Amino acid sequence: MNNLLKELHIRNERVLDKLLVSEHTPPRLLDAMRYSTLSEGKRLRALLVYGAGLATHAPLARLDSVAAALECIHAYSLIHDDLPAMDDDDLRRGKATNHIEFDEATAILAGDALLTLAFETLSSEASELTDRQVRKISQRVSTHAGHTGMVGGQILDILATGKSLNINELEQVHRCKTGALIQAAVICGALCSDHCSHQTLKALEDYAQNVGLAFQVVDDILDVESTTDMLGKRTGADEELGKSTYPALIGLEESKKLAERLYQSAMASLARIGDNTDHLADLAKLVIKRSH
Ligand code: IPE
Ligand code: IPE
Ligand code: MG
Ligand code: MG
Ligand code: MG
Repeated sequence: MNNLLKELHIRNERVLDKLLVSEHTPPRLLDAMRYSTLSEGKRLRALLVYGAGLATHAPLARLDSVAAALECIHAYSLIHDDLPAMDDDDLRRGKATNHIEFDEATAILAGDALLTLAFETLSSEASELTDRQVRKISQRVSTHAGHTGMVGGQILDILATGKSLNINELEQVHRCKTGALIQAAVICGALCSDHCSHQTLKALEDYAQNVGLAFQVVDDILDVESTTDMLGKRTGADEELGKSTYPALIGLEESKKLAERLYQSAMASLARIGDNTDHLADLAKLVIKRSH
């Protein structure tokens, strides 16, 4: 990761840390929210917001709120994904999952609170976004995170458990459960700019679609090939649960080739934008080459 991305990672950490402080929040709920949000994540969605913002010359202060909001939604999605009713995992980011560390009711509520906090953050005066930007970004975030996006994808994933999907069906699950929020991060970063042309937005959308799908393909590969230590979450879980994944459907080698093709397509989309896309290029590489 380049130095600016490293700095932005820390910057996002600080924004989240400040956001997750309130004397009006019951301490146990706040502890559970902080536990999962401030733990050792890659902060990919935040970095994509900053990357798209830098590519379109958006002010950093506006990107802060959007990046933090998306990381809150991502953290909520992980807490709920790990619940016994879903993937029933006990390890996340190298620590006990939220419902193990606290309890199920607290984990559900911490997730709910993080989701609502995201929209509180986006609509706060402190965000420095214009009213029109708040409307457009909130609309994007909600459609990509909700029933037509991530939440929709999560139920498709659950329904597909123990079944064998065809390649188009599997692609739809992955595009929804993971791709949608990644796409929202990129688009909303660009929506923070006052100067993003229609063509640039379209190119960014194409970039994000490719990176979003590639991310989940690699996640499936790592579940087979990596170690629990390296990932900070249990490996082999997909096979155990009978999850529909790319390695299960097309094999590891084809999955790796697909991830590489998606990376190349993402890079080709960036070439349509011109300069200032180095950070997005680095992030696409990170998605493909990552070891955790
Ligand atoms: C894990 O996401 C969940 C998926 C969408 C596959 P990440 O791999 O980005 O998780 P963190 O944030 O780095 O822990
Ligand atoms: C999770 O996909 C997607 C969301 C959290 C929305 P996975 O179930 O594959 O994620 P991991 O492998 O548990 O991180
Ligand atoms: Mg899951
Ligand atoms: Mg899971
Ligand atoms: Mg997974």
